[in-house]
Amino acid sequence: TTEKPRAAEMLAAGIAAAAISGCAQVPAGQPRAEYDQPHRPQLSYTPERNWMNDPNGLVHHDGEYHMFYQYNPNGAGWGDMSWGHAVSPDLLHWRELPLALTVEKDDKGGVTQMFFSGSAVVDTDNTSGLGQPGKPAMVAMYTSVYPQDFTLANGRRVRAGQQSQSLAYSLDKGRSWTQYAGNPVIEQPPAPYADEYREFRDPKVFWYAPERKWVMVAVLAHRHKTVLYSSTDLRNWRYMSEFGPAGAVGGMWECPDLFELAVDGDPARSKWVMVMNLNPGGPAGGSGAQYFVGRFDGATFQAERDEWLDGGADFYAAVSWNGAPDGRRVLLGWMSNWLYAHDLPAAAWRGAQSVPRELGLRTIDGQVRLTQQPVTGFDGLRRAAVARGGRAVAEGVTPLPQARGPAGALDIDMLLAPGGAARAGVTVHAGPNGEGTVVGYDRERGEVYVDRRNAGDASFHAAFAARHAAPMALRDGAIRLRILVDRSSVTVFAGEGELTLSSQVFPRAGSDGVALFAEGGAAELRALQIWPLASIWAKPAEIPEAI
Ligand code: FRU
Repeated sequence: TTEKPRAAEMLAAGIAAAAISGCAQVPAGQPRAEYDQPHRPQLSYTPERNWMNDPNGLVHHDGEYHMFYQYNPNGAGWGDMSWGHAVSPDLLHWRELPLALTVEKDDKGGVTQMFFSGSAVVDTDNTSGLGQPGKPAMVAMYTSVYPQDFTLANGRRVRAGQQSQSLAYSLDKGRSWTQYAGNPVIEQPPAPYADEYREFRDPKVFWYAPERKWVMVAVLAHRHKTVLYSSTDLRNWRYMSEFGPAGAVGGMWECPDLFELAVDGDPARSKWVMVMNLNPGGPAGGSGAQYFVGRFDGATFQAERDEWLDGGADFYAAVSWNGAPDGRRVLLGWMSNWLYAHDLPAAAWRGAQSVPRELGLRTIDGQVRLTQQPVTGFDGLRRAAVARGGRAVAEGVTPLPQARGPAGALDIDMLLAPGGAARAGVTVHAGPNGEGTVVGYDRERGEVYVDRRNAGDASFHAAFAARHAAPMALRDGAIRLRILVDRSSVTVFAGEGELTLSSQVFPRAGSDGVALFAEGGAAELRALQIWPLASIWAKPAEIPEAI
């Protein structure tokens, strides 16, 4: 691993770069003007304008991480679903590119095809024949949605509302796309489920090396089933098996994922993880995500256990990247909830992605659990720490007035021993009249919680002002909490990352304080570090690896 420049040096370099580029009045770490709005996330991706939901087509190719996403090019509400596109060298700094797949309309303006969620692969061996010598095809597999009765190019009729699986390919690093002439490649759900033609979607495709074939997993949303297919050429697909109902079935199953991970870093003990999003029925109400740990033999998935993927309200449609160069598995979720996604305070854009999360499988208290951490390299955004070292936390509230940063984003890492306190932790986005988002450990209930009941604007939806919690035991009397604070979100990674809680918040202007608290007794921070974070939307001159 390369040595990270120390924060102070990066800060100095940033100021120097700003001075050279003639913008010395913009301190290092601040966002550039297009991304500098009060609630615009500074640590994760938003499109410059308009509506965004699920991440799609996450794939690494030729030094670039691609992120496609469900996007409405014509407004800040869901509709006209197309694939937006952005690229990154490091999973931190993104560049928005023109649309990849654009909604299609007839001459009366009626939508004939929308592009719903899906995935992308690089067809390195040209199994599809869609590539050219030296130019492997990037192949996107998505759900074609036909809102009205429609005749396809091949003369076949599709019914209004039908969802079929289709592919498009690119020979120029995803910059331009051609829809395959033989679309859709899977027109109908498997025979016993023919009546599910309106709810058959979200294909995730990956290369299954042991049998040199492609595997696709898609959902029959209302049946709480995934259906698995295989192919040797990405064009012809054979139905293999189904999985489900299982685990949480309180709502539609959407956006499945399936991948293998080493257990405790030992590839000989690998297991398979199926991620399954569902709406509603999530752990905090509305949409949410769960995962199954189990076995996959190339044809069938069998679950051994299941758990929530995130205990907060705002982590949905989570899927992972295909083919990170170093074999790591990185997951991305839409940082919102269908319960109120449309009601969020409107701005030029609506909808944000999460910080990309690196996944692991660890044996914790005898069980194999998924762990999530902000992606490696994320700590390169850290500026000089504004707080360090352990300390006692007296009963009551202890403000930390120095804990502020240039972009309004913080990284807080604490080892919290609640001691005699019933509840203890930290309030962020603290402002007048007790406003703030509370992140704490409740010793009486044995849970980590995020309380956004007084976190700022919650007037837009009755369910927004809420407290979300998930159980977790103390270890040696303490719990590790890493908290990413952004302009409109708070994300908690507890323990080794086996528990995460993602929450949007809309603090009022100027509510940027940080305070420690302990209730019903004193607590102890065995360790504490707080770093201001630079914006990922900093001017290119301030970004370590220019994009
Ligand atoms: C999940 C989802 C997917 C669908 C897409 C449409 O949020 O409903 O199932 O493909 O959004 O935008």
